[in-house]
Amino acid sequence: MKLTILGGGGFRVPLVYGALLTDRGEGRVTEVVLHDLDDSRLYAVARVLAEQAATVPDAPTVTATTDLDEALRGADFVFSAIRVGGLEGRADDERVALAEGVLGQETVGAGGIAYGLRTVPVAVDIARRVARLAPDAWVINFTNPAGLVTEAMSRHLGDRVIGICDSPVGLGRRIAKVLGANPREAFIDYVGLNHLGWVRGLRVAGRDELPRLLADPDLLGSFEEGKLFGTDWLQSLGAIPNEYLHYYYFNRETVRAYTEVEKTRGAFLRDQQARFYDEMKRPDTSALTAWDRTRAEREATYMAENRETAGAGERDEDDLSGGYEKVALALMRAIARDERTTLILNVRNQGALSVLDSDAVIEVPCLVDANGAHPVAVAPLPDHATGLVCAVKGVEREVLTAAENGSRTTAVKAFSLHPLVDSVNVARRLVEGYTEVHPGLAYLK
Ligand code: G6P
Ligand code: MN
Repeated sequence: MKLTILGGGGFRVPLVYGALLTDRGEGRVTEVVLHDLDDSRLYAVARVLAEQAATVPDAPTVTATTDLDEALRGADFVFSAIRVGGLEGRADDERVALAEGVLGQETVGAGGIAYGLRTVPVAVDIARRVARLAPDAWVINFTNPAGLVTEAMSRHLGDRVIGICDSPVGLGRRIAKVLGANPREAFIDYVGLNHLGWVRGLRVAGRDELPRLLADPDLLGSFEEGKLFGTDWLQSLGAIPNEYLHYYYFNRETVRAYTEVEKTRGAFLRDQQARFYDEMKRPDTSALTAWDRTRAEREATYMAENRETAGAGERDEDDLSGGYEKVALALMRAIARDERTTLILNVRNQGALSVLDSDAVIEVPCLVDANGAHPVAVAPLPDHATGLVCAVKGVEREVLTAAENGSRTTAVKAFSLHPLVDSVNVARRLVEGYTEVHPGLAYLK
């Protein structure tokens, strides 16, 4: 089984490889091909992987290339984890938006639109190449903004592209834990778009345990989302939102916090990772130790500004190990070996959320087997959530159209229609600002 990782010089690749190393079963991945545009990043990551594999017999082989077509040919699975414009681009996304007083987060609001506008054309090119060179491959998309990028790719790959995110999984795991339920036995009734979803129920043996949580302020206040949103607001909502909804429900506070912070998240990660990749150029350092130290610091500071505005304190120890690699591995195993399982994934709607058309990519629990991911029936969303989901999907569709037609006017429309952009004039200036700093947006005419 051959797995190709696009963005193979990316910082989180060792997480994926680490997960592969735990898989000893028949039909596992035996060959990993890393693709990246940047040789030195490939070299750095390959060093970490070599140290990870050192003590593991029969570890998957690793090769690296900067030739995309060569990387794709013969792949059984393709992981797409690219970052168009790099972390410098992410920092620019934040800066330009904050200068206009709006949010510049990598996936939410103006920042997410800017990032989407420069990523979609590249993702579409990849999808076309996969369709031509590896038509039987399954594409697992990690590239943010994951829902939008998956939808762009699905127009060329149909249901052979599946988007993943670890946020809903982490949320489900935390809720199950506070309720004393086994996450493997619990069905999480979660739906929405990527980074815009809500848990409305958690069923164990057919019984919904969520009302018990919502009725108990002590339990509610004991985990990440309870601390972030506050127990009153969760009780009032009657649902547990994905952590990224903090940017909507507490927009004013998060924008202020991001404006006042010394370094925005993108700028922090840009500098942190520059140090890591530099360190990898020195032959005497332990690659794995340096990587792990950098990773731990990244995890500990995740959404730090949001937690600070909410007075949420440090992250829980259990939340520091991420989990996206586990979702990726579980998904691959389910498909390659028909190990049926239920996972929350980004797939085409196919009727699961009746307010959206069947081709709209949504985030929803899916039954996964050798035939792919099939969304399961979930309860409808409450009106306010439906409103947000429809508004943001409308924005995503404008981004896809702008990317297809190269239309600046459509790009302005995308920014203008976003619930977190409060004026058409702001949207116009955002398009100005972003096209000035991002060469990847030169196609907008
Ligand atoms: C969460 C999100 C991902 C995001 C990751 C890292 O897991 O679901 O989409 O890539 O956090 O965020 P960071 O701010 O560390 O890049
Ligand atoms: Mn995510």
